[in-house]
Amino acid sequence: MSGIKIRGTGRCVPEKVVTNDDLAKIVDTNDAWIASRTGIRRRRHCAGETHTALCVGAARAALEKSGIAPEEIGVCIVATLTPDHLVPAAACLLQRELGLAEDTLCFDLNAACTGFLFALHTMECLLAAAPRKYGLVIGAEVLSRILDWTDRGTCILFGDGAGAAVVEWREGWTSIGAVLGTRGDDALLRVAGAETGERSFIRMDGTKVFKFAVETVPRCMDQVLEKAGMTADDVDFFVFHQANARIIDLAVRKYRIPPEKYYKNIEEYGNTSAASIPLVLSELQDLQKVHSGSRVLVVGFGGGLTWGGALVEFA
Ligand code: UT7
Repeated sequence: MSGIKIRGTGRCVPEKVVTNDDLAKIVDTNDAWIASRTGIRRRRHCAGETHTALCVGAARAALEKSGIAPEEIGVCIVATLTPDHLVPAAACLLQRELGLAEDTLCFDLNAACTGFLFALHTMECLLAAAPRKYGLVIGAEVLSRILDWTDRGTCILFGDGAGAAVVEWREGWTSIGAVLGTRGDDALLRVAGAETGERSFIRMDGTKVFKFAVETVPRCMDQVLEKAGMTADDVDFFVFHQANARIIDLAVRKYRIPPEKYYKNIEEYGNTSAASIPLVLSELQDLQKVHSGSRVLVVGFGGGLTWGGALVEFA
């Protein structure tokens, strides 16, 4: 038996706050529609900050919180779909900025909004063979770069930010028991690549993705609980991908999760894709809603299609 636990978390968001009223000046929308349909009131957009800067800010904060030095990191994974460059990887630029050792395995991973969960699972597998048993997992996005300002169905949803976690791997610890899935589908959610020859934007069939999410989240939660031999009552805290407050509310109602056991920050940040889950984890740690020994059921879904859940413990 072996597994990872979270030692410390951190986050970094751009300074610029964009309100729903700000967006109503450029697209045909309004605060009441956005807030009631999504739960979003504000989001942050980069105005000069780079993806790399967000990664560095979040990673430094997580290292400091966990009391781990950059030299102790064995693996560094950045989950993202909006890196500054396709090459070098965001993780390699982060390695340079943090001064991670050259034998630290640094790479990016794209599983859209489920990226942080895919990265946690990958980290757990890789740390077993790594020279040092601490790993740095980042979820970071600059989604404002790929928004179509003529599409009010998507441009109001997304925000920028980064969250990070320093994890430790040990023999004898229980695995996070990740349940992950993918289904090739470019009809529901897509950011086109080089084939278009022009700038590429998020394209989404929101209603169908919503339906996919409300089916997938509980299925995934059931599978994680079954794998761990637990019930929802055994879980100390629930962390959901922040895509739409209504999706979270449906899961909360289904599992009768009391208000003190879940958290939403979508009002402040919108949907930050791979950054959404670590942003929540970082706020929870700062607010002392989670502490050493807390068992957190984390669940996410997104483009790919991808989905995933895991039971993550704080060290
Ligand atoms: O993290 C990646 C995963 N993504 C998601 O989880 C997103 C899941 N989907 C959603 O969150 C929701 O589907 C949306 C928030 C994107 C849309 O909400 P909806 O309740 O599904 O609205 P809709 O697309 O069915 O649109 C309803 C109406 C339409 O008008 P008509 O045809 O009824 O006259 C839209 O044109 O709302 C209109 N509408 C808007 N109105 C004001 C769509 N976007 C807007 C807007 N402001 N921004």
